[in-house]
Amino acid sequence: MKEQLELILKQGLEEISSASCKDELESARIKYLGKKGELTAVLKMMGKLDASERPAMGQLANEVRAALENAIESASVKLAEAALIQQLKDEALDVTIPGKAAIVGHKHPMYVALDELKEIFIGMGFTILDGPEIELATNNFDRLNAEEGHPSRDWSDTFYFDEDSRVMLRSQTSPMQVRAMDTMELPIRILAPGRVYRKDEVDATHSPMFHQVEGMVIDKNITMADLKGTLNTVVEQLYGKGTKTRFRPHHFPFTEPSCEMDVQCHKCGGVGCPTCKGEGWIELLGAGMIHPRVLEMAGIDTNVYSGWAFGIGLERMAMRRFKIADLRLIFENDVRFLEQF
Ligand code: PHE
Repeated sequence: MKEQLELILKQGLEEISSASCKDELESARIKYLGKKGELTAVLKMMGKLDASERPAMGQLANEVRAALENAIESASVKLAEAALIQQLKDEALDVTIPGKAAIVGHKHPMYVALDELKEIFIGMGFTILDGPEIELATNNFDRLNAEEGHPSRDWSDTFYFDEDSRVMLRSQTSPMQVRAMDTMELPIRILAPGRVYRKDEVDATHSPMFHQVEGMVIDKNITMADLKGTLNTVVEQLYGKGTKTRFRPHHFPFTEPSCEMDVQCHKCGGVGCPTCKGEGWIELLGAGMIHPRVLEMAGIDTNVYSGWAFGIGLERMAMRRFKIADLRLIFENDVRFLEQF
């Protein structure tokens, strides 16, 4: 029995000191000191000993128990300390490590151009208007004097939702003219930017989705001179004082007379270069005096009121402003491109 007790002490101390965590220590305790543990098992055999041997063995057994208990107690304190040290290490915050820079985005170049345009018009007393991209043919065509059979109403050009061609993705921001006339008090001065959709194949200058900005004024005594004066002021603010414009006759169903406005090429100053395809001028927008029929359909008295409107392609404007050669770059949103602005 003496040897057994000594063996228990030796093995027990070894196991206790090699325990690397609380759980291991606990299982060592159970193994040696538990109710079904090794020491208990030896003590149960005490009765079989000679009475003369019992006191000495009893004392030895008690010493072994005390030694194991002490060892467990101090091992447990050590493990707790080690765990705390490890935790402190793991959670340590090294304030000397350089921080990771957060990647902060910035405004898309097209919206930079749009915001510049908005600023200019807000300065002239215009209201910014937002409207739906899903539009009724009523507003996109009928009320804009584009009759049934007008080529722009063709299925090959326009995204319709229904067989009757009454609901569509708007093909222009001009329906905002109608919406403004229907909802706003006269006089009206609005600027309405937004997405428009046409069945165009994607290439360097075309996309089935692009942006336009519609401008419109309706007031008493509004003439073509007001249109030209306003647009010339805008162009000078966008592209610098003295920038020349040119108005060419054109046709839109909802304006009469209609025109397109060109801006003298910023690259060559009008001599002709690759940017303006040798023309010296770059087409910027369509415009005109609002057709009396459009005003009448909105219930506006054409004897008292007249107005002008224009529609400008926003991507084209941004491409000019930032000298971007390919329209697709504006939509791809490759950060290597966007970072340049
Ligand atoms: N909506 C016309 C277009 O998409 C542009 C335009 C707007 C022309 C307003 C005249 C007046 O081409």
